[in-house]
Amino acid sequence: MASITVRNLDAPVKDRLRQLAARNGVSMEEQLRMMIRDGVATDPLSGGVEPAGLGRSAQGPAENASGVSMAGSASLAGRRILLIIGGGIAAYKSLDLIRRLRERGAAVRCVMTAAAQEFVTPLSVGALSADHVFTDLFDRQAEHDIGHIRLSREADLIVVAPATADLMAKLANGLANDLASTVLLATDKQVVLAPAMNPRMWSHKATRRNLATLRGDGIVFVGPNAGEMAESGEAGAGRMAEPLEIVAAVETLLDRAPKPLAGRRIIVTSGPTHEPIDPVRYIANRSSGKQGHAIAAALARLGADVRLVSGPVSIADPAGVNTVHVERAEEMRDAVEELLPADAAIFVAAVADWRTSASAQQKIKKQADSGPPSLQMVENPDILAGIGHHRQRPYLVVGFAAETQNLLANAQAKLARKGADFIVANDVSPEGGVMGGDRNRVRIVSKAGVEEWPEMSKDAVAAKLADLVAERLKSVEV
Ligand SMILES: Cc1cc2nc3c(=O)[nH]c(=O)nc-3n(C[C@H](O)[C@H](O)[C@H](O)COP(=O)(O)O)c2cc1C
Repeated sequence: MASITVRNLDAPVKDRLRQLAARNGVSMEEQLRMMIRDGVATDPLSGGVEPAGLGRSAQGPAENASGVSMAGSASLAGRRILLIIGGGIAAYKSLDLIRRLRERGAAVRCVMTAAAQEFVTPLSVGALSADHVFTDLFDRQAEHDIGHIRLSREADLIVVAPATADLMAKLANGLANDLASTVLLATDKQVVLAPAMNPRMWSHKATRRNLATLRGDGIVFVGPNAGEMAESGEAGAGRMAEPLEIVAAVETLLDRAPKPLAGRRIIVTSGPTHEPIDPVRYIANRSSGKQGHAIAAALARLGADVRLVSGPVSIADPAGVNTVHVERAEEMRDAVEELLPADAAIFVAAVADWRTSASAQQKIKKQADSGPPSLQMVENPDILAGIGHHRQRPYLVVGFAAETQNLLANAQAKLARKGADFIVANDVSPEGGVMGGDRNRVRIVSKAGVEEWPEMSKDAVAAKLADLVAERLKSVEV
């Protein structure tokens, strides 16, 4: 069998491969394997179905099956981003963010706060952005033509990453005592904040107040995510969103593509539910929310007014999507019902089938003489079936079937029982790595039959499904 050695590839090909591998966080060999696999899957001779994104460059960002943004090289071509870097440990990630934005064709100009310069140097930021780095409100050279106004005027969008608690507080209160805060107060451009801070700073009442004010002022937030913090031993909500998540938000906000779902309200559920046993324990599942969140983002990119009802996940809320956070299945049902009427509803969440009949008020303690406690379980509401048969049933109802066996038979049974228009069936057996992973292989089960989609990234599944929803809603009056 023939083999390919990466070392022997032509230098430009190798360079491009290196970029793609870095972007996808895989080795060059794995990137090559993914591309060959995708090539075979999309070869018309193989009978494979074309993954979403191929041949739809006019539709804005989309991915091919290897998770590579098809619009990647040019999705932000000609766009000017003003990146304000605040003084937090996550400032090092802003260096990667500059690269990612520029890879997509954006011109990136940077403003650094005094504190930011304690974490990364203007030299690195300038080298990566290939532009002068602005640090001083009273810079005589820049201010002869009122530099802070020009910085805003010459940008299509302003990103603040990391957005410190301090910058949020200043912006929420209209303070303008350095270049970053003055630009933010003087701008009429869309501002995107990627907060990063210690979880206690993030959950502090003052920061919550500032967050609410800024949201009300039309500021878009990306993240923060939950997880380990850079400070050792610290974990919780406060990690800055990853550069690619911020790029996705920027792409969405600047997307010029047609909006076939404009004027449509679509409900999406995502993630697991947590069913409490006592105040500290709960029943959960391995759903990460990646597929549901990607679908919400893809629908928003097509112009839909997306209402995402998310169970507890550690990924960021998708940009441009209105997200409601819930924990339990009953809360998810109530949130979905409150969002009716809608044109479509897509139920991706892995809702727990059962909950304990009553959650204990206090932590259940080990009893030396009585052994483990027995849990009395009761059935949770069936949210998909409830909406599928609701008097305010959306025109289009889509369910997901996550199965480990008899995938098609279970999906077909679910279709009829739940009143859904179609079921997206995916095999979540552990060996497939779908739950928590970045790739998925689904079948669309409807009355018309079964359509198999090849394995592709969850983002590509989302883009293809969003196209399908747009197609189905085309003939329905807004
Ligand atoms: C080591 C260190 C790490 C810090 N990390 C953060 C952080 O992640 N987020 C934050 O909001 N503030 C952080 N701070 C505090 C900010 O640097 C401080 O509030 C500063 O005034 C922010 O200035 P700026 O908003 O003008 O960038 C950190 C401070 C130090 C010394």
